[in-house]
Amino acid sequence: QVQPVIMAGGSGTRLWPLSRAGYPKQFLVLSGNESLFQLAARRLAALAAPDLTLAPPCIVGNEEHRFLVLDQLRETRLEPSSVLLEPMGRNTAPALTLAALAALENGEDPVLVVTPADQTVTQPAAFTAALQDAIRKAETGAIVILGITPDRPETGYGYIRTTADATGLAVAQFVEKPNLDTATRYLAEGGYYWNSGMFVLRASVWMKALERFRPDIASATRAAWAARQTDAKFVRPGKAEFAAVPSESVDYAVMECCPGTDIALRMVALDAGWNDLGAWEAVWQVADKDEAGNAFVGDALIADSKNTLVHATSRLVGVVGLTDIVVVETPDAVLVSDRARSQEVKQIVNRLGAEQ
Ligand code: GDD
Ligand code: MG
Repeated sequence: QVQPVIMAGGSGTRLWPLSRAGYPKQFLVLSGNESLFQLAARRLAALAAPDLTLAPPCIVGNEEHRFLVLDQLRETRLEPSSVLLEPMGRNTAPALTLAALAALENGEDPVLVVTPADQTVTQPAAFTAALQDAIRKAETGAIVILGITPDRPETGYGYIRTTADATGLAVAQFVEKPNLDTATRYLAEGGYYWNSGMFVLRASVWMKALERFRPDIASATRAAWAARQTDAKFVRPGKAEFAAVPSESVDYAVMECCPGTDIALRMVALDAGWNDLGAWEAVWQVADKDEAGNAFVGDALIADSKNTLVHATSRLVGVVGLTDIVVVETPDAVLVSDRARSQEVKQIVNRLGAEQ
């Protein structure tokens, strides 16, 4: 039995002004005509195979986004097995723990296929093959991460160093979000992969690893789960109990700690056109473009411009004579940025603080 889990409770603000606290990146339509969350749900549904029984997905998200989750799932016609609603964000380690506890509820110990909700993949067949390989490896008790061949010293990712053995790749080292010097050195040394943020592992294996490395998160999340309320498909962990759970990501809480212990951490390489759309630059990269490299969404008129991205949501936007510029229009905010510097929109988001 395989249980897909979609972690959809982040507040990703790097795609400001389109992505907001109330409407984060994973629910935006950035390529094709479905949101990143919907695309994630479809990719997981496609993992079914004759020898692989796939449960409907378990969604772990924020209470604030419950209607977005429900409406967008309804559009895909994919029924969730359950929607776990966090009263506040405590990052991905508690989110995955809720999903693991839900999966263990009826005496089974399924393999969880845990994925972020905010990525794109251009080669679905390669994605399916890599994930199915990872599922088979996880059935034997390993934690399997999907690794991406890096092409730049990105500091927003986890880095994985592997060693080959008889049955594939073992993870010798996992470093979450290294600084630029370290990331540059890893790229120069070679042999490193990026963590895609996708993990495949049995529910009990996650609980065992978490009990080992972060017993505080394990017990606090168990308390919140014990105090849960269930309302049809919605499951709400106890609010006061969940508020007391330490905030930490899966990567820092467990993955970094596994190498060198008896918990087997393995990697399967994913070569499927993966992109986590971390900034407008990445959105431009994956977008359909005209001969001059211009991409647009919504009502946009582009004249004599090159390699621009124009994203209009509520008004007609015209641009003339621009090169390598991003323009994002929303009813209450407009971003105009150098495409190569679109990561720096976080400076603006930081200045806006909670207002955004
Ligand atoms: N339910 C829930 N609750 N989901 C969450 C929460 C939370 O509190 N916080 C984040 N998520 C979801 C996000 O919506 C996203 O889909 C996923 O979990 C990953 O969270 P991010 O916040 O986007 O993580 P990251 O991008 O900084 O880093 C992770 O992904 C990188 C690849 O994109 C790490 O796993 C890195 O190691 C990895 O390289
Ligand atoms: Mg991310």
